This record gives sequence, C-alpha cells and structure tokens, in this order.
Amino acid sequence: MAVKHELEDVEGVGPATAEKLREAGITSVEALAVTPTRTLTEIAELTEEKASVITQNARALLNIRFTTAKDVLSKRANIGFVTTGTKAIDNLLGRGIETQAITELIGEYGSGKTQICHELCVTVQLPVEQGGLGARALFIDTEGTFRPERIMNIAKNFGLDPDTILGNIIYARAYNSDHQMLLADEAANLVVPNNVRLLVVDSVITHLRSEYPGREALAPRQQKLNKHLHQLLRMSDIYNMAVVVTNQIQSTPDTFFGNPNKPAGGNILAHGTTYRIWLRKSKESRRIARIIDSPMHPESECLFAITTDGIIDVEETK
Ligand code: GTP
Ligand code: MG
Repeated sequence: MAVKHELEDVEGVGPATAEKLREAGITSVEALAVTPTRTLTEIAELTEEKASVITQNARALLNIRFTTAKDVLSKRANIGFVTTGTKAIDNLLGRGIETQAITELIGEYGSGKTQICHELCVTVQLPVEQGGLGARALFIDTEGTFRPERIMNIAKNFGLDPDTILGNIIYARAYNSDHQMLLADEAANLVVPNNVRLLVVDSVITHLRSEYPGREALAPRQQKLNKHLHQLLRMSDIYNMAVVVTNQIQSTPDTFFGNPNKPAGGNILAHGTTYRIWLRKSKESRRIARIIDSPMHPESECLFAITTDGIIDVEETK
C-alpha cells in the first residue's frame, strides 16, 4: 500500500494553509486532490492560481497524472469485484460490482435498490476467495432507510458474526444535498485508515430532486449532480473502490413513443456512472435486473429474489 502523506508534504501547502484545510474537513492529501479548485479558494483563502498549483501537486504526490495505455491496463488488472450474493447478477456484470467504477441501481420504489446496497455492505467484507474484498463499507443514507437488522440477517446467512459485520459499516445520514456532498468529501478521509472498498450513496438524487424542483432549477441541479458524481468517480479511481449509487425512475408524460418511464438525473447521471442496472418488480419477491448502457457488456437481464436472508438466485426460492 502507498505511503501515507500529510497535507504539509504537498508542495505549496504551509502550516497556515494546512490548518485552514483541516478546519474545513480536508485532512488528507487524497481529499485535497479531489477538492475542486474553486472550493479551495474559498476555504483556504487562496488565489485561483495557487489553489490550482496545490491541487496539481497533491495529485502528483499521489501519482495521479498522465500514464500510458500499458499502465492503464495494469491498473485495470487491480480491479476488484464484490459479489452481489447472486450468481445471476454477478454474471450479468461479469464478476460482480467492480471497483474503479460507479455502479448505478435504478428502479421504482420497492424494486430492491436498498436491499442490494445492504447485501453489498456485507459481501464486501468477505475474503477475496469468497467474492468480497476483505474490506469495510461506507454508507451514505439520504432517505433514512438503512436497517442494521437487515444487515444482521444477511450476515447470519453468510455464517458471519453480525456484530463484527455491523462494526465494519461506517454510516452517515445525509440531510440535504450539500450535506451529502460534504459527507462524500469527508469519506475521502476515512477510506485509507479504515480500509473502505465500498461506498454506497442511497439515493444519489432524492435531495437534489426535492431541493431543485421544476424546469428553471434543472441547470443548477444538474451542475451539482455532475460535481457530486465526479467527486465519487475520482474516489473510486484513486482508492480502487466500488461506488454504488441508487437512482429513481421518473415518468415523462409527454412521451409519445416507447417507455414513458426513465431514470432520473438525465444525461449527467447516464454519462457519469459506469454501469447502470435497471431493477423491475416481478411476481412477489422476484425482481428482474437489466444491465443498460454498459461500455463492456451486452444488454441482458436476469432474475433474482429478495428474502429475509438477503438477495438470492431464484432457483433457491421454492
Ligand atoms: P425505494 O427506496 O422506495 O425507491 O425502493 P428500493 O428499490 O430501495 O426498495 P428496497 O430495496 O427497500 O426493497 C423493498 C422490498 O424488499 C420490499 O418490497 C420487500 O418486499 C423486500 N424486503 C425488505 N426487507 C425484507 C425482509 O426483511 N424480508 C423479506 N422477505 N423481504 C424484504
Ligand atoms: Mg431504497
């Protein structure tokens, strides 16, 4: 693992700037590297030029710069996979949820988005041989639907100690979209010391949709969403971790042809996430997962079921 750097190790960051950064919650070089320049000018009272130099120096220190295609390939060789607990969805994605990527779970209410997020918080803790990353999870909950009891049931199903599993999930409730983004920034400081390899944001869009209603607010809303997704994507990249976000379905009554229901968040979310899985309800506890817009996978779908033990392959439900 890489050497741990202090803020003062970044060229151009003196003790006074370091203190201002820490006061603003930017306590690591990793967090500094992913903070937009404009934010730095505000919190550390720096000129735009100085802030830009510091960001670049922070990135250089962490080795974030141009590389060759060969390096990209070897970096991709480090991609890790987290099992969804079902062979069907793992196969749909290749080998499960990938690190260095954002996976988006889209679906109407009750379609299983939050349940899959719960499942992943457990499975990421499994050893690599069993489909996990032997690591911790970080859960940003915007809807107040995280349930430790569900985690305990899922953990028991894997024969794991529920207490240990719960202790390895770092949780935060986000009360508005600014808070949500602040928590994502703060998360950057927690990843390395806590060996976090999964970051969940459930849901990525709820606060933004309610805070910026109507067409007039669309531009600022999308700008903010874009910033948030970039923040998450950089984190997935720098820390080689899996980021999973959930998204809702929005109906567009003015559609004449095709499906009037589409994922919320428009093009920003469509382009900002790496893998998109659309979940639909089927009979009773059954659900359908469909992979859409993937750079590497054909569009296809599979069945799974939600049970008290977590999400499972349908062959197991009788
Ligand atoms: P929204 O957040 O409302 O948009 O929906 P969601 O897609 O996050 O839905 P969620 O993942 O919360 O799925 C809810 C469904 O999971 C419910 O309809 C239940 O059928 C099922 N479910 C939740 N908890 C349990 C449980 O303990 N046992 C069983 N058998 N099913 C459960
Ligand atoms: Mg939910």
